[in-house]
Amino acid sequence: MLSFDVLTIFPKLVQDAVDVGLLAKACQTKKLQIHAHDMRAYTEDKHRRVDDEPYGGGAGMVMKVEPIVKALEALAGPKARRIILSPRGPLLTQEKVRALLAHDEQIILVCGRYEGIDERVLPFVDEELSIGDYILAGGEYAALVVIDAVARLIPGVVGDADSLVEESLEQGVLEYPHYTRPREYRGLQVPDILLSGDHQKIAAWRKEQSEELTRKRRPDLLKKGKK
Ligand SMILES: C[S@@+](CC[C@H](N)C(=O)[O-])C[C@H]1O[C@@H](n2cnc3c(N)ncnc32)[C@H](O)[C@@H]1O
Repeated sequence: MLSFDVLTIFPKLVQDAVDVGLLAKACQTKKLQIHAHDMRAYTEDKHRRVDDEPYGGGAGMVMKVEPIVKALEALAGPKARRIILSPRGPLLTQEKVRALLAHDEQIILVCGRYEGIDERVLPFVDEELSIGDYILAGGEYAALVVIDAVARLIPGVVGDADSLVEESLEQGVLEYPHYTRPREYRGLQVPDILLSGDHQKIAAWRKEQSEELTRKRRPDLLKKGKK
């Protein structure tokens, strides 16, 4: 069973988020394990300090290397993949999400805070990972994004496996538009084709919509697919 270990100074923030909805159900049905670990438990001083002033001066505080390495050494099993959430890492993609699911039994996610983490932690991890070109206050939200994206690909976690295949980005394109009841809302109609009952025509329409949307909004995806 895949397990996530999240190393954070705010374990409650992570735990509260995974105790809800799809992730909670995945854990209850033993498809996944998620543990939030308090980084302060791996400190050795009486103040349980996880941060200190930056060498060379400058704004903010830096997370200390010792508690993180100590935690990694205590938590990592033989097949652990150790990941630091960082805006400096390569961007998380659906391809990377699939790779994480395929290769790993244990994924340890290290969440930074403040100005970031002492650089000397890097030799003790496998990679850095960013969830986007913007700066969050902490890695916890990024860790939850990684967990959510990977968890929903675990067989049985999402009820209807077909919905995963058609998802945006899974086929290198954005997904087609969806509609549900009512048929008309404030003058806005459901496209007639979806009410026709002709499954071949519906499939063709959806493919066309999907390609059109991708061309308009994310032409970069089409270029990537052609490589
Ligand atoms: C305020 S940020 C530090 C940013 C750092 N000073 C920099 O400029 O690269 C604090 C922590 O939030 C997390 N974080 C912020 N933005 C992120 C992103 N886009 N992806 C992943 N983690 C992020 C990282 O764990 C980071 O150590």
